[in-house]
Amino acid sequence: MDIRFDFSLFLEKNLRSGDGMTARDLRIRLRGAEKAALSVARRHAEGKVGFPDLPFLAKEARAISRDAARLRKRFTHMLVLGIGGSALGTKAVLEGIGGRSAGKGLLLTVADNVDPEAFLPMLRSHPMKKTVVVAISKSGGTPETNAQLALAVDALKRANGRSWKERLVLVTDPKNGAFRRMADEEGIASYPIPPNVGGRFSVLSPVGLFPLAAAGVSPEKLLLGAKTMETAFRRKEPRENPVLFASAAYSHYLTVNPKPVHVWMTYGQGLDRVAEWWQQLWAESLGKLRPDGRRVGQTPARAVGVTDQHSQVQLYQDGPADKVYTFVKWMKGGASVPGAGRLRSLFEAEFEGTIGALWNAGRPVARIELGERDEVHIGAFLHFWEWVTAIVGECAGIDPFDQPGVEEGKKITRALMGEKPAARLRERFMRKMEGRAPAEIRIGGDG
Ligand code: PA5
Repeated sequence: MDIRFDFSLFLEKNLRSGDGMTARDLRIRLRGAEKAALSVARRHAEGKVGFPDLPFLAKEARAISRDAARLRKRFTHMLVLGIGGSALGTKAVLEGIGGRSAGKGLLLTVADNVDPEAFLPMLRSHPMKKTVVVAISKSGGTPETNAQLALAVDALKRANGRSWKERLVLVTDPKNGAFRRMADEEGIASYPIPPNVGGRFSVLSPVGLFPLAAAGVSPEKLLLGAKTMETAFRRKEPRENPVLFASAAYSHYLTVNPKPVHVWMTYGQGLDRVAEWWQQLWAESLGKLRPDGRRVGQTPARAVGVTDQHSQVQLYQDGPADKVYTFVKWMKGGASVPGAGRLRSLFEAEFEGTIGALWNAGRPVARIELGERDEVHIGAFLHFWEWVTAIVGECAGIDPFDQPGVEEGKKITRALMGEKPAARLRERFMRKMEGRAPAEIRIGGDG
């Protein structure tokens, strides 16, 4: 495995803009990151935080591989239903290592929206006799996934009659929720999501491993990469430790010299999907209200190199100094494309040139290069960011593992959809909407 982390343009010694970290800043932040890592490790030891265990579940990964191989013999398509942490990791890995063309397995589609104009045609385009539907929800109470599942079950029944159940797999909590009840009552195949692993930290659990394995991605290699990262993290000295160094630096830019925006600029196929996964991890884990009433968070933004150099870099260069940057690229750019020579050199020069321009403007920039476009590197990289996010959150004095804001949105949606126990909430919300001061302007229509 070969991953290069370069944080030199976070250091004031190199940046010389007043926006870099001094040697003292770094010392203090590294100590903070070490303490925070211990605190996450303590919660892990108490069984409250489970993502550090996932790289070691090799036996489970092998079982998933075997199940997936059996499915590949009978079916051609897999349709994944889920949203947020139940979907983004699968998309990131699949696209990251080469999209559908790299998969030697089922044709995988991840449906993470309920826009009927997208969802229904997509569902109808699936050959339901040859499709396995995988519905993923930790809680089993997410309105979007529940609605998708109801429609997919109807389609499976219409196409397959009584054998519809053979074409459905549920990935959910081992004990609780409507999906678990459905699996137990209807005898539907299922995989458990460890109760102490939340959605956005779950890509290396059956949430990501099962659909990815069905698509031909190796779950064992994903875990191997993550395990290599986990082991390096546990053994290396703070200054040699990419997890601790990154956690120290990003926590500096979250709370000490706060940069409200964190931009990932990606160079290379599939990395924008990885950035999408990271956006959720960063936003939902760190955007929090502290117990003392202070608000914490950093807006994660994505930019695609080189395309967005021509739309966003002007802002990054001359606009407010309110951002920290992470540049990510493949070292080798995946499968060699015949005749790529000059274009590749240009692409590499764009990467260096854009970093150089931001450096000239005194902006803090990290660069990360991933050796190969494969499972081992992606597994390590995702696990790296899970640790960094957990430690940065801990440093900021918030709980990186909860998501009260998302839960609130789910509650209101369920109430608006007429769920009985939420009738009072619905009434209150409707009264509030009706009572708001009007400022609506409509042109055309009936208004
Ligand atoms: O990270 C999270 O916890 C969330 O984004 C969830 O993954 C998302 O809300 C879906 O929840 P569930 O898996 O319970 O359907």
